[in-house]
Amino acid sequence: MLLTLRVPRSRLYLGRQQHRRLLASTAPEEAKRQATQHPLQLEINGNTYPTDSWTNVTPKILSHLGLNKHLQRDHPLSIIRQRIVNYFYGAYRNQRGNPLFSVYDKLSPIVTVQQNFDNLLIPIDHVSRQKSDCYYVNREHLLRAHTTAHQVELISGGLDNFLVVGEVYRRDEIDSTHYPVFHQADAVRLVTKDKLFERNPGLELFEETWSGSLADPKRILPSSKCMDQTKQPCHTLEAVKLMEHEMKHVLVGLTKDLFGPRIKYRWVDTYFPFTQPSWELEIYFKDNWLEVLGCGIMRHEILQKAGVHQSIGYAFGVGLERLAMILFDIPDIRLFWSNDSGFLSQFSEQDLQNLPKYKPISHYPQCSNDLSFWLPANVEIDAGFSANDFYDLARTIAGDVVEQISLVDKFKHPKTGKTSLCFRIVYRHMERTLTQAEVNEIHKHIADASVEAFNVQIR
Ligand code: PHE
Repeated sequence: MLLTLRVPRSRLYLGRQQHRRLLASTAPEEAKRQATQHPLQLEINGNTYPTDSWTNVTPKILSHLGLNKHLQRDHPLSIIRQRIVNYFYGAYRNQRGNPLFSVYDKLSPIVTVQQNFDNLLIPIDHVSRQKSDCYYVNREHLLRAHTTAHQVELISGGLDNFLVVGEVYRRDEIDSTHYPVFHQADAVRLVTKDKLFERNPGLELFEETWSGSLADPKRILPSSKCMDQTKQPCHTLEAVKLMEHEMKHVLVGLTKDLFGPRIKYRWVDTYFPFTQPSWELEIYFKDNWLEVLGCGIMRHEILQKAGVHQSIGYAFGVGLERLAMILFDIPDIRLFWSNDSGFLSQFSEQDLQNLPKYKPISHYPQCSNDLSFWLPANVEIDAGFSANDFYDLARTIAGDVVEQISLVDKFKHPKTGKTSLCFRIVYRHMERTLTQAEVNEIHKHIADASVEAFNVQIR
């Protein structure tokens, strides 16, 4: 869920009026229409975006814009944000004793393809760019898939120590640990040679061969395909090692601050297009190694493009829901969107150090219904029909009462050659018991909308 922009990988603020219109439009007929068709343009945050063949944001997804759960008083995500921010404020101070890091937690989640991907050297054919993985407003704009999308604009603006916190959007399956909107915190720290080698003034950030008198330090490097985990060709080994040491020290410090000094952790080598070398930090929790954050030494091409030529940097990104689920013992990711006072009243930012354990309000029963249909002739799963499209349609119609959807059966008819799919949809309301009649009605709306949207034939 959290760090899927690595490889390999298998798989607004709305204008006020618009917001109210979308929220009010829960009538099933209207939901169906909105999930399958798009208006010619979308008005989001007072900006107008023409739609095109890439548009796949749904009203349901857009309704999350501006909710800012990470800034809501006493919300568990806001408490985690403050813990991270306070840790960084304490970890780095300037000579006057003021925090070095600045925090950006209200940046608009609508970003360009350039911000989310190109600026970060994410290859043009990278899986994370696919329409089936992101929410596109149109071919040029999308809802950010990671808070790393803001790196280059902030560095270009002259910042060298900053945190970005906000919600991110990724198309995904639906279950108790996956939700298409979740929150991340990202950080960047840049240092110059004088700072990094304060105690060893003879050392250099860049290899002589690369930065020597004949070389132009501003020349943009051709992106190296070779992903050497040791270092980038331009950096000296001593610069990378010192930076790695500082970064790991700070991130282990953060992990211990959150999970306690005795937490078991390990570093795992990984790959991100925007850092080299790259790591993930895993913690040992309930008999499992869980990945909590991704980090690495920033690719120098990114700094160069942002106009920074004499620094080396590290960056990291962490998902807030996963931290909060562990720290508060919250069992279901959908609870973070709950407005139930029984949930919200359990948390308070009065005492950021002692985090209470979540006490389940109660368990309402699940209700499971199957939906089987024939795909149109010559259409197959991932060839003309994407399961994520179906999940989104179901979510648009049923909202959060859909707890889980799984593909339980798939076969090809020997004569007609048509593919049949059977999805199991598990319904459960977080705050009350759903009646079977109520579920049947929602289920029927999903079936009808699927016929309309995907031209399928219900079995
Ligand atoms: N953006 C990455 C993700 O969401 C995390 C990351 C950020 C990794 C910064 C390295 C550096 O998966």
